[in-house]
Amino acid sequence: MSKKHILFVCLGNICRSPAAEAVMVAKLQGTKLDHLFGCDSAGIIGFHAGAKADPRMRKQAQVRGYLITSLSRQVRPEVDFDRFDLIVAMDDQNVRDLTKLTRSDSDRKKIVKMTDFSSDSRCDFVPDPYYGTIADFDLVLDILEQSCDGLVNFLTAKN
Ligand code: 4NP
Repeated sequence: MSKKHILFVCLGNICRSPAAEAVMVAKLQGTKLDHLFGCDSAGIIGFHAGAKADPRMRKQAQVRGYLITSLSRQVRPEVDFDRFDLIVAMDDQNVRDLTKLTRSDSDRKKIVKMTDFSSDSRCDFVPDPYYGTIADFDLVLDILEQSCDGLVNFLTAKN
């Protein structure tokens, strides 16, 4: 099987998508199939480009054993829609924004939503915690852990 590349996308690429990337990397390591997958993350906006993830997100992730090391970058449509096999958005606005950046049907088919892979039907997006409390960051991690379990199953069951 050829290596599959997955890009996690949120608005700023400092809270949800870098956390999704770190959780997914850890979950894949648990399957021993991590060599078959590459993970990255990016933001719809480039406002925080070059910055580390939000310290609140890094701290709450670290409590659960996840190390967030990525630096923020903006989505690069001409590169990312070619380089990545799956583009995983955190909410419906991210899906709409990404869809506007697509060049073809083939690009559009790569866009999915993180919670599509969650077994909990009550959550259908990953809420933006940026203006929220620590509990909101923990909720993001709860949703990401559950969704990444589903995404790992999806990716590994097919192969
Ligand atoms: P994220 O959270 O999309 O989960 O990284 C945000 C971070 C920054 C901003 C918005 C959302 N901002 O407007 O700067």
